[in-house]
Amino acid sequence: MLYQIETKHQPVGQFEDTRFEKIHNIIYKSSLEASAIVAKEIAALIKQKQKENKNCVLGLATGSSPIKVYEELVRMHKEENLSFYNVITFNLDEYYPMEKDNVQSYFYFMHEHLFNHIDIHPENINIPSGSVDLDEIRQYCIDYEMKIKNAGGLDFQLLGIGRTGHIGFNEPGSHINSGTRIITLDHITRVDAAPAFLGIKNVPRKAITMGIGTVKSAKRIVLLAWGNNKSEIIKETIEGKISSEVPATYLQEHNNTTFVLNQEASAELTRVKTPWLVKSCIWNEDLKLKAVVWLSELLNKSILKLTDKDYNDNGMSGLLSEEGTAYDINIKMFNRLQSTITGWPGGKPFSDDSNRPERANPAKKRVLIFSPHPDDDVISMGGTFDRLVEQGHEVHVAYQTSGNIAVSDEEALKFAEISKNIKSSKEVDEIIKFLENKKSNEIKDSIAVRNLKGLIRKSESLAATRFFNLPDKNVHFLNLPFYETGTIKKGSLTQEDIDIVKSIISEIQPHQIYAAGDLADPHGTHKICLDALFIALEQQKHEKEFLKDTWVWLYRGAWHEWESYEIDMAVPMSPDQVLRKRHAIFYHQSQKDGVMFQGDDHREFWVRVEDRNRLTANRYNQLGLADYAAIEAFKRHHF
Ligand code: F6R
Repeated sequence: MLYQIETKHQPVGQFEDTRFEKIHNIIYKSSLEASAIVAKEIAALIKQKQKENKNCVLGLATGSSPIKVYEELVRMHKEENLSFYNVITFNLDEYYPMEKDNVQSYFYFMHEHLFNHIDIHPENINIPSGSVDLDEIRQYCIDYEMKIKNAGGLDFQLLGIGRTGHIGFNEPGSHINSGTRIITLDHITRVDAAPAFLGIKNVPRKAITMGIGTVKSAKRIVLLAWGNNKSEIIKETIEGKISSEVPATYLQEHNNTTFVLNQEASAELTRVKTPWLVKSCIWNEDLKLKAVVWLSELLNKSILKLTDKDYNDNGMSGLLSEEGTAYDINIKMFNRLQSTITGWPGGKPFSDDSNRPERANPAKKRVLIFSPHPDDDVISMGGTFDRLVEQGHEVHVAYQTSGNIAVSDEEALKFAEISKNIKSSKEVDEIIKFLENKKSNEIKDSIAVRNLKGLIRKSESLAATRFFNLPDKNVHFLNLPFYETGTIKKGSLTQEDIDIVKSIISEIQPHQIYAAGDLADPHGTHKICLDALFIALEQQKHEKEFLKDTWVWLYRGAWHEWESYEIDMAVPMSPDQVLRKRHAIFYHQSQKDGVMFQGDDHREFWVRVEDRNRLTANRYNQLGLADYAAIEAFKRHHF
């Protein structure tokens, strides 16, 4: 095998030649670190070819996965004189039909992220064209293949993976020997692309893609996958049988392929999820809990009913011999879970807190809730928020972004027209004119329209926080600049964003911080907001004495929940509290009845979150804990 990725950068997991894994893979803590390593391999290949006086032929991908690899290559070009004069590139795919100058085209993407910033000869850039006449496509594709062959074949192919298991746009059903061709996109792929196109109806139905055969002919292949939503397909691809239903499994037959993953994308691999099934483990307390919860869920038995035989039959005899008997482990793990449950998220005053998730003192805490968008607070922790206020803590909410992108034009027009009816002004007239003339595929709004959309979300947030009896002076709108691009693509996090977060923390001096802990890549707003907080805390922790007493609790956003074994604080809700939370979410009217960025889950946010809170409660109950209507879950972050 020719694997070339350096591993001295401390991957957190390595491919093991077990009966489970069929593709070499390396797991890194973050996509940032992993991308830098992949960029380094590409740069080394380019330089090696330069020494040999040869061209370097790269197969390139688009999408969110390779962005940081391209950023790093651009940095190397600018700061380390990496030249691309000998590089010939072939992109995997392009939507069809698609004009080059359309911001959604892969042509535009590649120029924006890479080609415009390096010294590649423009004639060496090859991207399938989305504007070839339909009756010329067949020949066009044959020519594309020939061009790759004539260039000497692909030295290196960079890939992402779709949730359908596609590589390039080779959707399920693709043949192992397929070449470049026009294909029909899978529905899931179109759903995933919908946010960038402002709705699924605008996503093209077809694409031109290199084939599986084309990709497999590359001398070296590196596939990148980041984030929880890739973990299932990564497991299927690495551990499953080769099948046209998951085209990426064809890579099992390529002898120089590496999958580069971050922790979230690797989460479903057997070696990561249930390591006790693969090898003998070093059992720390967290792993013990994870294993016991897994066993209880697998056998559909509450923890206290698990037997020695259950442990022995399921790869956990090592744990049993360390702990004594099933009875001993069961009690220990049950108690640990039991002590995560509290109706006092700010700590129970004047009581023994040795087995509670939060400190009893001070009895009245200053609490700062960070909410990436102006509604994540109520959606993700509305019940806890309500209790914190009710229990007399000084609660503050900081909305990190304006959320203006997610307000529809119709909603904005409604408010502009109301405003005009009350008092006409030049600004309102301009807003109405802009919205009336806006084309359906036009994304960027005028500043005035963006302000109005931001204002709508601000007013909705205040309605919700007032419902929880929070004074307006405790509601802070940070409007972090990275978000204010007017498009779906956000800017990068800068010190300006971090300073804003630092200043609100210094102002409030909180005992508790709550934040959206969506650690999953890729580069969504929640992740950037969390990065801003983590960096702000790192930068301040040695300077600010009060931070020694600040505990950080992470909630999960609208999409998924912490696993039961990850939860450090579980706040139960009564049926009435569930209704109050629903009521608060309803104040965010611009996000109701069909939000703009729904993803493939058609349930509204309040339904999703109620289902999720109910599920968390059911899971706890099935583990043998009390039967609650709903639970909000938090994980403590130590900094
Ligand atoms: C892009 C491509 C696709 C993407 C895949 C993952 O050129 O061919 O296979 O790599 O859809 O997309 P992201 O990285 O956006 O998750």
